[in-house]
Formats: sequence, structure tokens, C-alpha cells
Amino acid sequence: MAKRIVTDLNVEGKKVIVRVDFNVPHKGDVITDDNRIQAALPTIKYLADHKARVILLSHLGKVDHKDPEKCEADKKKNDMAPVAKRLAELVPDHKVVFVNATRGEELENAVKALEDGDILLMQNTRYEKGESKNDPELGAYWASLGDLYVSDAFGSVHRAHASTVGIPSHLPSAVGFLIEKELKYLGQALDDPKRPFVAVLGGAKVSDKIAVIENLLKIADKVIVGGGMAYTFFKAKGYEVGSSLLEEDKIDIAKDFIAKGGDKLVLPVDTVIANSFDEPTDIKTVDVDKMPEGYMGLDIGPKTVELFSKELAGAKTVFWNGPMGVFEKEQFAAGTIGVCKAIASLDDCMSVIGGGDSASAAKNLGYADKFTHISTGGGASLEYMEGKELPGIAIIEEK
Ligand code: 3PG
Repeated sequence: MAKRIVTDLNVEGKKVIVRVDFNVPHKGDVITDDNRIQAALPTIKYLADHKARVILLSHLGKVDHKDPEKCEADKKKNDMAPVAKRLAELVPDHKVVFVNATRGEELENAVKALEDGDILLMQNTRYEKGESKNDPELGAYWASLGDLYVSDAFGSVHRAHASTVGIPSHLPSAVGFLIEKELKYLGQALDDPKRPFVAVLGGAKVSDKIAVIENLLKIADKVIVGGGMAYTFFKAKGYEVGSSLLEEDKIDIAKDFIAKGGDKLVLPVDTVIANSFDEPTDIKTVDVDKMPEGYMGLDIGPKTVELFSKELAGAKTVFWNGPMGVFEKEQFAAGTIGVCKAIASLDDCMSVIGGGDSASAAKNLGYADKFTHISTGGGASLEYMEGKELPGIAIIEEK
């Protein structure tokens, strides 16, 4: 059954609480990437244009409530005020009010003062200790501020927090346009992919990707593995990996994937290695079974880019999550660039990037518009592709 969407609600004159994911990269007061704010605009504008009184809630960064000093520093670092400023610039036709509080009279009065079409952004939900614990009192309190709840925070729906799960357990609910879009593309890849379906998984750790590799080995036609986690697979094959990233306790799982995956699992054949991570003075490319001691693998090599491109050729569905190497460093970016280009050049293919580093890579390389969909949720899209139920979606009412 499909989830209710924002257009199914009668919102005129109603106080609509919208959970957005404004967890944006920022340096001090400067928002360095406003993509997540932009992604929530269709829902926010729809509601404001349809005369709702919009109450936006989001987290920003993490707040450590165990250590009082750290807590204060985190709050200062993750103040939502600059986000409100950026939002106001992006929605010039509506009044945008920022409330520097997460509960109490100031917030309640500001909500009461809202007129139809106004937008209020509350301070960072994680200023409240109970947010991440889904404290029932907090969820009920926030719910008491509104009449309806809309979830458009795709990046946060894998978290069962007070703002993602607590509030909608008290109010009529729906998903916004961003979540509708995310579920359309990720859902199509997972449930009804046009074939061949090729998954490309990278990133540092096998431990982060076990569940997704497991699930995609069942669903995809090919599962390509690159990035730091590949070295644990090489070790599982009996190769030396020098001082490359290695998860000793995941070698058996890697062996199991190699056995189960057969031809479906595609691993790198060559790797770019260096004598140091911080100050590499000796960089070379070797076959993966010929890694000398004292070197670490930091990218896939050109033969691997060619192999992966061949595996990708003709794909009708691609899901990509995780870089192929340390792409932040120019010397080790060629693998990620090569794979990104290979996916971007596919014709008649639904290509989806599962957020995080691969999304930044595609954007920085100028290939963002060559992909069908770039998810706004790193952790959330990964958990979705693992086949897990996402609590912030499960709680939303069906049509
Ligand atoms: C993200 O950036 O992945 C989401 O905003 C969730 O943030 P979190 O990992 O701090 O819960």
C-alpha cells in the first residue's frame, strides 16, 4: 500500500509540522552545500502556497548530552540560525521565522502568531536530550504544537527519534514530495529493477556494507565492490594487503560473500598503492595479488576501471554507494572518477546514487545531472537497500 502524500491532506489554515533534513554541511555561519534545503523546498512551498502554517523541525549535526561542556560546544556549532537565513533567501514569497528554542513559551507564542502561509523553523531538535531517545513526552509535546505531520526528512527516516517517529504517532500524517521521489527511485531499484541491475559498492568498511551486499547479492545481477573494503576481500582470497585498510574480523564474511557471490561479485584486479597515506612519495599501480609489504592500497587501478566499466555497459539499473578510493586526494581519485563517468555515460539506464561521498563525488565532478536520482540520505538509502523497514516511513499513514 502507498503512503499518504502531502497532497492528500487538507492543509489550509492548519498548523503543519514538517520534519525536514536540514543537516547540511556548514562552516560557522556559512552553509557550504544547501542541497538538502533545496530538496525540501517543493513540499515547503506547496504547504505555504496552500495557506498552511508551516512548522519546520530538523536536526543539525550531533549534540553530546553526556558531557556538559561538549554539549554547549556542539550546540554552538550546530545552531540552526544560519539555516533559517538561507531558507528565507530561498522562499522570498513567504515570511520565515526562526525560533531559537525547542520548547516553551517563546516557541508556543511564535506558533500561535503564525498566519496562513508563514513558515517557522525551530532550533535544532537535537538540542533536546530526548530527541535521539524518542522520548514519549517530547514527541507528544512537539505534536501538541500542530494539527498535521508531514515527513520529508528522507535522510533521517532510518532514525526512530522523537521528531521522526514520536510526533507522527499522535497526528494525522503524510510524506512530502522528497520522500515520495526517494521511494519511487530506490523502490524501483529494489523491488522492480530493469535488468541488468548492477550495484556498485565502495567505501572504507565492510562492516558498514555487510547487510547491503547480502541483500544486493540476492537482487542485483552484478555486485561490484571497490574502495577500502576491497582489501578485506583480497585478504579473504589469500593475498597480502600490506598496510591497507583491513578488518580482520570480517575476513570470514568476505570469504562467504566470495563463495556465495560467484561470478556475480566483481572485485578489483589492480590497485593504486602508496608508501604513506599522509605524505605519499612513492605511488604505483600493481595487480591485487602482488601488493608489496609496506604499501597501502588507496584506489582501484586503471585495469579495474576498465573491468568495472565493462560490467556496467548495458546496465538498465545502477545503484552506486561509496567511493572507489581516497577520492579527496587527487592522486587517488581516478578510480572514483572513472566509475562515476562510466555510470554517467550509460544510455537508457536508471542510475541512482545512494547519498554520502558518492553523491559529493558526482556533484564535484559535474556529473550530477547525468544521474536519474541522487538520494539525499546516505544511511537511510543504504538501510533501504538492505531491505530494512525505515521507522520514519513505517509510522506514516497509508493512503
Ligand atoms: C545524515 O546526514 O545522514 C542524516 O541527516 C542523519 O544524520 P545522523 O547520522 O546524525 O543521524
